[in-house]
Amino acid sequence: MFCLKARKGSVKVLEPKTNRKFAAKFIRSMKIALIGYGKMGKAIEEIAVNRGHSIVLKVSVDNLEDNTVEAIRQADVAIEFTGPESAFENILRCLEAGVPVVCGSTGWLDKLEAVKSACLQKNGGFLYASNFSVGVNIFFEVNKRLAALMAPHPDYDVQITEIHHTEKRDSPSGTAISLAGQILEKIHRKKGWVNHISDNLDELEILSERVDPAPGTHRVKYSSEIDTIEITHTAHNRKGFATGAVLAAEFIAGKKGLFQMSDVLGF
Ligand SMILES: NC(=O)c1ccc[n+]([C@@H]2O[C@H](COP(=O)([O-])OP(=O)(O)OC[C@H]3O[C@@H](n4cnc5c(N)ncnc54)[C@H](O)[C@@H]3O)[C@@H](O)[C@H]2O)c1
Repeated sequence: MFCLKARKGSVKVLEPKTNRKFAAKFIRSMKIALIGYGKMGKAIEEIAVNRGHSIVLKVSVDNLEDNTVEAIRQADVAIEFTGPESAFENILRCLEAGVPVVCGSTGWLDKLEAVKSACLQKNGGFLYASNFSVGVNIFFEVNKRLAALMAPHPDYDVQITEIHHTEKRDSPSGTAISLAGQILEKIHRKKGWVNHISDNLDELEILSERVDPAPGTHRVKYSSEIDTIEITHTAHNRKGFATGAVLAAEFIAGKKGLFQMSDVLGF
């Protein structure tokens, strides 16, 4: 899409690339509460500030006393990247504050239904993504299509591998669980996923490897006696996750309801 910009009586047609920069400059500046100020929180801060937003609250384990409903209320939107143990209560606190929340913490999804109910009850805004990277969300779409194509071909067995850094606390990764869910929806010969090698063909194997450094690799492999088809996504750094989280925050600010990254990206 091209944009027409008036300049002293003349009209200048902007090139698409310039147009994107132009659009980015005119995004409404937001006040952001960063709940979780570790590797991701810091990467998000850099992207958010570059896009003209301000950080009004930063919370880590060193200042938990600042993590209050009143403090969160100063923000237009909250971005939560803490970890499996703390995500649930942080999300509820943001909903209590009436501030829409984008959550990237993984490993807490057993409480997702409770969060969805709380969000609807409080008339709040909530967006969770196991992975905020635009590339991974495109990879998800490819995964769904490949699974649909493979569904009528039982000669192929399917396996997921995820590789992350050794500090990662949850296993398998939230992204691998999303990939598994997409596969299980299409390939009904698999009845569920397991996080270990399995001889049971009803089980979808997710293999987790922990090595340093590794921002995140996910591979889906279909193998038969005849051939192998693999799709792989490898993150080179955390920038993609952080940019996606800020895009999601820009999307959800001022909105109410339950959202996913596919809503942000228009899939
Ligand atoms: N969805 C995605 O795209 C994506 C991408 C990368 C990481 N992650 C997930 O995000 C989470 C954070 O990752 P990270 O690499 O930044 O971890 P990290 O350990 O570097 O940072 C965690 C931060 O949360 C803070 N924290 C811990 N407990 C807290 C609590 N109770 N209240 C407030 N703050 C608390 C810590 O002090 C630290 O600042 C993990 O669950 C990780 O798996 C998600």
